[in-house]
Amino acid sequence: MKRIFIIVLDSFGIGEMPDAADYGDQGANTLGAVKKSPAFRMENMKRLGLFQIEGTGCREAGTPVPAFWGAVARMKEQSRGKDTTIGHWEISGLVSEKPLPVFPEGFPEELLEQLRKRTGRGILCNRPYSGTEVIRDYGREHLETGDLIVYTSADSVLQIAAHEELVPPEQLYAYCRAAREICRGSWGVGRVIARPFIGSWPDFTRTANRHDFSLEPPAPTMLELLKEAGKEVIAVGKINDIFAGKGITEAVRTKNNKEGIDRTLEYMKKDFEGLCFVNLVDFDMLYGHRNDRDGYAEALAYFDSRLPELEAAMREEDILMITADHGCDPDTPSTDHSREYTPLIIAGKPCLKGISLGTRSSFADIAAIVLDYFGVKIKCAGTSFYPQIRALDGEGLAKAALAAREKAYAPYSRFCVGAALLAEDGRVYTGCNVENAAYTPSICAERTAFAKAVSEGARRFRAIAIAGGPEGGLPSGYCAPCGVCRQVMAEFCGPDFAVIMARSGRDWQLRTLKELFPESFGPENLEEKREEGCK
Ligand code: THU
Repeated sequence: MKRIFIIVLDSFGIGEMPDAADYGDQGANTLGAVKKSPAFRMENMKRLGLFQIEGTGCREAGTPVPAFWGAVARMKEQSRGKDTTIGHWEISGLVSEKPLPVFPEGFPEELLEQLRKRTGRGILCNRPYSGTEVIRDYGREHLETGDLIVYTSADSVLQIAAHEELVPPEQLYAYCRAAREICRGSWGVGRVIARPFIGSWPDFTRTANRHDFSLEPPAPTMLELLKEAGKEVIAVGKINDIFAGKGITEAVRTKNNKEGIDRTLEYMKKDFEGLCFVNLVDFDMLYGHRNDRDGYAEALAYFDSRLPELEAAMREEDILMITADHGCDPDTPSTDHSREYTPLIIAGKPCLKGISLGTRSSFADIAAIVLDYFGVKIKCAGTSFYPQIRALDGEGLAKAALAAREKAYAPYSRFCVGAALLAEDGRVYTGCNVENAAYTPSICAERTAFAKAVSEGARRFRAIAIAGGPEGGLPSGYCAPCGVCRQVMAEFCGPDFAVIMARSGRDWQLRTLKELFPESFGPENLEEKREEGCK
């Protein structure tokens, strides 16, 4: 039973995007800011590869690569925008060319006129305002006149506040539904929000009857594609609101991050096939927007402390993805979101461990991987890199290399090496070292395997296992490929090509070609030279 759990750490950006300045966010780096807090502790995320992600700046060149567990990438937002809705839509395969509209000067008169007509009430305020201040400043007038308090914020929202004794919540929701119908096209705000309050001036307080009316995603997302394919799509936290319920088969709301994690764990214990999509909003709502760096760091440390529980509850065919929807750097003067890259950590038995996939051009690649994993046609934005991270049978490949080593012809060095090369189509080509009395014509095990494979027509490869050591018994160390063999690998294999250095079926280390052979010379260098030469 295949399941994917996506956990969005709301606003956990990992550094400015190249166009951050267009959004007033030059230099923003949410991770960079919270890392400075004494409360920052993310040992489990570190183990899963957080700091192996490109640009996190924590892996100094030349330092050994620690074994880590996930497949990781840095994600770029392709949409124009930096809000929750646009970010989650892109994660789900919907790229927005335009940001959702904001109304820093208040809403246009034509819009207000329609709203007055539909509700039969007048309108107060109509400006960006703090939610607590707006009821203090307009609450009395609202009670005297019956007019609605309509306000906005830096986000794409239209909010309507009303006293529960004057306008019962159900009535307020009906007004908001009317506003939702009015707010389309160029007025299509991300959310219309009902903000009921109680009490008397100056002690008005907002109640828990807040309700969001979201804009429907304008094109199909992975959620709908999954639902159509008969999979479960479970929404935890505010995911249901973000998608206006579209493509969701089951939803639970949550009060805070703790409850979000608890609910996710409960779903991990249930049987279902499909996606469980979780948003943990405290990072953004309670800490990012309030520029509370320590609070943010503590909330991350709490999430991190519960990661082992989530990992332990995962089953054979489960994949866990941890990502974010935008940034919200608590160290910048702005309390608004920031235009940042986000992290992606993918963990689980079906996926390769310890692989860093650079920077992906869109959050939508997440949608593509999800659909690819479930075998559902990718009819949304995004490119799947699931084929690159699909788990390898490392044990099987290591054993094949050890068996090939038995055939090694190494009477001169008495150093016996075996290799097993896995082609893209699943075929395995083995090889051993073949020495010669003249020494120089000696061939390494890896190149024997490549020569066999290429001469049989194979050109694309996923991995190679190498087992080498002095004659007899199992190798005592991890035999790394020689420089010439690395060059041959670079000829046929991409940077994520996996090199497994095996001592036994169970004991091996995995490195990517990029790690073993950075800044290498390849066919592309010749192309450059040729082009230059022609000029
Ligand atoms: N050898 C390999 O087959 N692969 C390697 O990656 C390292 C070296 C062989 C070549 C030679 O026959 C023997 O090991 C000692 O260098």
